[in-house]
Parts: sequence; C-alpha cells; structure tokens
Amino acid sequence: MRESRDLISREVLPEDEAAEESLRPKYLLEYIGQERIKENLSVYIEAAKQRREPVDHVLLSGPPGLGKTTLAHVIANELGVAIRVTSGPAIERAGDLVAILTNLEDRDVLFIDEIHRLSHQAEEALYPAMEDFTFDWVAGKGPAARTYRLKLPRFTLIAATTRSGLLTSPLRDRFGINLRLEFYTDDELFQVVTRSARILGISIDSEGAREIARRSRGTPRVANRLLRRVRDFAQVKKDGKITREVAREALAFLDIDDIGLDRLDRQILTALVEKYGGGPVGLTTLAACLGEDPGTIEDVYEPYLLQIGFLERTPRGRVVTRRAMEYMGYPPKREQGRLFEGI
Ligand code: ADE
Repeated sequence: MRESRDLISREVLPEDEAAEESLRPKYLLEYIGQERIKENLSVYIEAAKQRREPVDHVLLSGPPGLGKTTLAHVIANELGVAIRVTSGPAIERAGDLVAILTNLEDRDVLFIDEIHRLSHQAEEALYPAMEDFTFDWVAGKGPAARTYRLKLPRFTLIAATTRSGLLTSPLRDRFGINLRLEFYTDDELFQVVTRSARILGISIDSEGAREIARRSRGTPRVANRLLRRVRDFAQVKKDGKITREVAREALAFLDIDDIGLDRLDRQILTALVEKYGGGPVGLTTLAACLGEDPGTIEDVYEPYLLQIGFLERTPRGRVVTRRAMEYMGYPPKREQGRLFEGI
C-alpha cells in the first residue's frame, strides 16, 4: 500500500528532493508545457527587467506536482535575482515575516509555498509589505503600544497554493499576476520523461517513455518518480533498458493501472459505487470510510479524477460518472437498481 501511495503522491518526498533539484529546468526555454503561462511570464519578466523594477506579485495555483516551485525558481533565474523560499505553515507570527523581508535585496523573489496555510496575523502583516513595501511593527501593548513603519526592499512575492479557493479575497486581490497551472498532456510528459532520462543517464526508448508518460496522471513529479522506479525494475529484473514491455511490467508490479490510477483511486471509486450507490456523498464521509485524510483525497486524488471525468463535485457531494463505472467494470446506470438491491 505504502509503495503505490508514495508513487502517486504528488507531495514532495525526501528522496525526490535531490532528484528534483537536478531535473529542475532553470530557464523558461527548458520548461516544458504550460505554454500560455510561459508566454505571459516572459512578457512580464522582460518588461520588469527593462524598467529595473520588481515583477508584480505572482500567485501560482493548481494541483501538487505540476511545477509551481520550479516555476518560481525559473522566474527568479530569468530576472537574475535571488530567491528566498519559505512556506505558509513555517511563518507563524508577523515577526517571522519581518526577519525574512528585511533580509531581501532589491527586486529579490520571496517564494511562499502553501500560502493558504498562512496565519491570519502573518497575512495581515503581508498586506502593506505587498502594497508599498512597508512593514508596520507594533512595539509594546495597550495604550503604550507604538507603531513603527519599516521600509522594506522592493521585492516580488511568488505564492503557491493547491487551494486558491481558501485564500481570502483581500490577499488574492493583492497579486497582480494570477496563474493557474494545468495538467500536462501525454506529449508534454513524454518530453519530460525523455529529458529526465537524458539528465539521469537512464536508457529508455521512445515507446517506454510514452508508456510512463501516459500513466503519470498529467503530473511531471509523478512521471519523474515512475521513471526512477521503472529504472530500478529494469536494472534488477531486466537488462537495464526501459522499453515499452519493461515499463508495462514494472508499472503492473507497482500496482499502477493502465491509465495511471493507483489503489486508493480505485478504492475511492469502488466505495462510491458499492457503499453509496454512486453518490452523492460528502467528502468527510467518503474519507472516513477509506480511513484517509479528507485533505489528501481532496488535494491529491480528486483533481485528476475530476480532470479525466471520473468524478463530479456537486453541492450535495461527490458523484461517480458513467465513464468511471464503465472503466471499473460496473454495469451501466440503468441496471444499477439491480446491482444495489443485492448490497
Ligand atoms: N521537470 C518537472 N517539470 C518539468 C517541466 N515542466 N519542464 C521540464 N522539466 C520538468
């Protein structure tokens, strides 16, 4: 169980960090996919460079593993400035922010991952920092309290979130550039797999790369992780070269099915059909029934199931689609009455 969960998990795992670092594209030209976003960014970056100003604050949203962190680094590289990296949960109080902000140089990038998990206090402190590069520092308490206004260096905040819906509108409104990353096409993932194999010195033919790309759920982080696991399999059980057949065998061994679904994906769909008559069912009920964290199901699993049309979100809860029923081998809806009577 753990094995296939880690394969699909779009969270960064410790073993990924080193590998991701070496695979991370440094400039827009090397960055595969997200064409519209790259076009927009290249204009904003060029304009800011010409004016010697920081780029407007950027909000990057979208499911985990699509390259939000990578893109933040790319923007900083293209601008030729330094990047400071932190995350919403790491900034507990406004004081934590001051330390970071006052250490930036003119036009540097501050990257805050998981911005939706920023504390209320830190968020309020961020407003004037984003708007006019000032920080209001309150010293003392009660009637004796005094506010000092600190001048900060000009900077660009790049924030990433998997849950843009959780941001307050005052925060969202303060980003001049709001970009939503999309799932990658199979062709784009094929290019990602091929590029990564070249960098890591992995022997793979184009059919092998296509097979991995097709089962990577639109997500480069998953593609890179599957590539490394299939490489292990090829090395130990085969002659080291990844062909389509080797990739197929390895992925079956890893319990990744034909379209890249893992065991929990299939359990989600099966529970919806067999326990809840296809839905609608609330997220918390579904998560409890599977013994999973609702946040993981919502952020990590559902986006792709929604994308491929296997799941729908309705005001009354999650509903499984006819397409998913067919894929999982259940009879079509009109025969469902009979199916569910027996349960
Ligand atoms: N590795 C992970 N994501 C990538 C991307 N979008 N382009 C190139 N390499 C990547």
